Amino acid sequence: SRLWVAALGAPLFAAAPFVSTSALAQTEITVQHALPLNSHYGAGAAALKENFERLTSGRYRVTEQRNDNEREMVESVQIGTLDCTVTSTGPVGNFVSEVRVLDVPFLFRNTAHARGVLDGEIGQGLLARFSSRGLAGVAWMENGFRHLTNSRHEVHVPADVQGLKVRTMENPVHMRAFSTLGALPTPMAFSELVPALQQGTVDGQENPIGVIVANNLNQVQRYLTLTGHVYSPAILICNPAMLARMTPADRAHFMTAAKAAATANRDRVTEDVNNGVAELRRRGMIVTTEVDTAAFQASLAPAFAVYERELDGALLRRIRDWH
Ligand code: PAF
Repeated sequence: SRLWVAALGAPLFAAAPFVSTSALAQTEITVQHALPLNSHYGAGAAALKENFERLTSGRYRVTEQRNDNEREMVESVQIGTLDCTVTSTGPVGNFVSEVRVLDVPFLFRNTAHARGVLDGEIGQGLLARFSSRGLAGVAWMENGFRHLTNSRHEVHVPADVQGLKVRTMENPVHMRAFSTLGALPTPMAFSELVPALQQGTVDGQENPIGVIVANNLNQVQRYLTLTGHVYSPAILICNPAMLARMTPADRAHFMTAAKAAATANRDRVTEDVNNGVAELRRRGMIVTTEVDTAAFQASLAPAFAVYERELDGALLRRIRDWH
């Protein structure tokens, strides 16, 4: 996977010659995520850096790096070669299976529903599950509602999806939905997506507006349909040993900074939703807003039956009924 340093903090005490060496000691925390600096994950990482460095008076330095293989990042956090990642839940269910309920299509009615569930008892309960898998689920963040793009034709109804080769995340819940619709789901890491679209290995992909805009996917995809077929949560996951090495006061500062990061990230998602569709039209995409959502939901009935059986059916109903 490609990995490059997106931003390095300025050395805070570089110009303070009379400070003793121990006062200079700085602990570095590296946070990786899959998107450009100018994106909703970038906004979250920047807020984490700004707040945590300020609250710890520069004793910590946060470095933001880009790595567009989310499974790899979660693995690295688990084994401790990476401190933290902001990732979609795409690969997370393979580590903490309980999280898979959140990946069910058409589960959340709107953003308020999703944020309310994640910030409440259900979301916090799911974060608590990470510790038994060698991970710390620190805070829910947001990727956003996913929409379908493709290079072949406009999509209005489920029949339009039939036979389309669609790149999905490495997520069995999403893959089942696409195969139930008659598409040919092709799971791959985000790092492989653009070459796969260029070479015609896949016809389409699905991602939130902010991802499509920030990665210029309009250059490789002509049609965008506002399917909003699934909410895509994101999460800040850290290595538990790294957090355990902090003093309790610094850990509390880290949690405060994580909250600020989630707020900045969600605000940017909202901004992208408000402006992004017009921007993609300006860049030449053909945008379909008339989508037969009820028909998509009806076509997914066989998949919903499997989710009820294979995932936590009671939890799915609690999420659906949340007000
Ligand atoms: O499609 C994906 O893999 C994810 O939505 C992305 C773009 C890496 C952001 O989390």
